[in-house]
Amino acid sequence: MQQHIVLVGLSGSGKTTVAPLIAQSLGRRCVDTDTDIVVKAQRPIADIFAREGEAAFRALETQALAAALEQQSLVIATGGGIVESSANRELLRANAFVVWLHARTPSLVERLQAMTDRPLLGDNPEDALQKMAARRTPLYADLADLIITTDDQSPQQIADEVVRTYSMRQQRSASAGVQVSTPGGSYAVLAGPGLLDSLPQHLHQLGLRGRAWLISDTTVMALHGDRVQQLLRDHGHTVEAYSIPTGEQYKTLDTVRGAYDWLLRAGVERGDVVLALGGGVVGDLAGFVAATVLRGIAVIQLPTTVLATVDSALGGKTGVDHAVGKNLIGAFHQPRLVLADTNLLATLPSPERAAGWAEAIKHGVIGDAALFADLRQSAADVLALEEPITGELLQRAAAYKARVVSGDEREQGTRILLNYGHTIGHAVETESAYTLRHGECVAIGMMAAGAIAQRLGLFSSAALAEQQAVLELFGLPTRLSESIDIEQVMTRIGSDKKVRAKRVRWVLPTEIGAATIRDDVPLDLVMDVLSDLR
Ligand SMILES: NC(=O)c1ccc[n+]([C@@H]2O[C@H](COP(=O)([O-])OP(=O)(O)OC[C@H]3O[C@@H](n4cnc5c(N)ncnc54)[C@H](O)[C@@H]3O)[C@@H](O)[C@H]2O)c1
Ligand SMILES: [Zn+2]
Repeated sequence: MQQHIVLVGLSGSGKTTVAPLIAQSLGRRCVDTDTDIVVKAQRPIADIFAREGEAAFRALETQALAAALEQQSLVIATGGGIVESSANRELLRANAFVVWLHARTPSLVERLQAMTDRPLLGDNPEDALQKMAARRTPLYADLADLIITTDDQSPQQIADEVVRTYSMRQQRSASAGVQVSTPGGSYAVLAGPGLLDSLPQHLHQLGLRGRAWLISDTTVMALHGDRVQQLLRDHGHTVEAYSIPTGEQYKTLDTVRGAYDWLLRAGVERGDVVLALGGGVVGDLAGFVAATVLRGIAVIQLPTTVLATVDSALGGKTGVDHAVGKNLIGAFHQPRLVLADTNLLATLPSPERAAGWAEAIKHGVIGDAALFADLRQSAADVLALEEPITGELLQRAAAYKARVVSGDEREQGTRILLNYGHTIGHAVETESAYTLRHGECVAIGMMAAGAIAQRLGLFSSAALAEQQAVLELFGLPTRLSESIDIEQVMTRIGSDKKVRAKRVRWVLPTEIGAATIRDDVPLDLVMDVLSDLR
């Protein structure tokens, strides 16, 4: 969802005329807070002012504004005094692209002559306007993302200028992105609403003019595949598409072989590009196919799950599962770009969304306290996919991984921190026979590792409680269910991939935003913590 556009300015500055023109140009709905108040109160504004006073009117105005901001991105015209209330200013600051339509007083007086129902102007409108302007100017200026001087412009010209600036800003904030730099390649990681539309432009900039080979799973292909193909064809690209069956059980060499057959028989060439559209399964598998076919061709990751956006799509680990275990076959192959259009998350079932956020919370706990605090603050909004906050937090969670990976492409040093919650998480995941989602198991694993750290005196009880609170805000499990056999989990921890010389290397938090690695955690302590997690 895109930001609301809200027009502020003195009476007569043209808000009501310009708003519908902007709305029309962006294909949005348009509302007017004054109209909403009149409709709801069933009487004119002058009447409300006369009988109940300004404070009562401002309260109605706050209600009308809040109700409008709850809806899908709108264009909102407001009453001139909307900035007089601090509640309104806070709402606008947090939720809108604010445009101040500025006009000189003589123009306003002229425009207002034709109008009635302007309660605060009285007998000497010029004088009243001047006073009002003096009081409100600093408030408008402080709130405005864009200021337009309207005196010599037609409403259509003003609307065009708003649309142009707004679109540019949206694009710029989305394209700022994050950069991953590794010896294996440097690339941008971009997350935000509507970014898919920029794919042709990125292909062009990256010099990827060959055929595009779209790989997705049957679920995501059915939902979003046509759109991607159409978009690329509209921009002159040749696109081929291939669906793999949906599900982790198909992340295998057999599926890879099918993809090789498709690519090679249709004549894939070195300069072509694989587009991996989907969650982590598609990203890992298509990435591996791209890493190996013709000894490696370009891949662009188009993640469509929260998990893939903040975690699996970046970092360059690709691969498939083997009967002996998950992710045992693979290759490092960095993508040329990670482009996450957060609008595509709308079709993702909510438990999948929540599970993906577990990895973002993990990034907060081990290395980014501000991200953690903002996830706590905005949990409900991101679960509802409110924008721009969802794109922003996904981008920041991805940025944390990008920083870690940039310093440590092949997991020799700090990259192991990303394994926080995964030692027990993986064991629980296997033990649940994959009935629990990966992110859900990571949440449980984070609670276990956090409790271990707390018992070792590394992590405070308060911080542990905070971690639990945020996981729960996202609807993630924080306890072990009865059906998980603790003895089995203990055995599996011993067989974890990250065991070094038979000692388990534990990633343990020391505070929210920092972690350390320890290999001297007594197994009795782990056992105790697991029993307590029931
Ligand atoms: N390479 C790495 O560094 C790395 C890191 C973490 C995880 N992984 C791997 O990622 C995989 C898990 O990824 P995941 O959680 O994204 O699972 P997934 O790819 O299986 O996707 C989950 C489900 O959501 C569906 N789906 C995806 N996007 C959708 C959308 N927009 N709308 C509707 N449905 C959608 C999929 O079809 C699937 O059924 C695992 O295989 C794991 O090993 C890899
Ligand atoms: Zn994970």
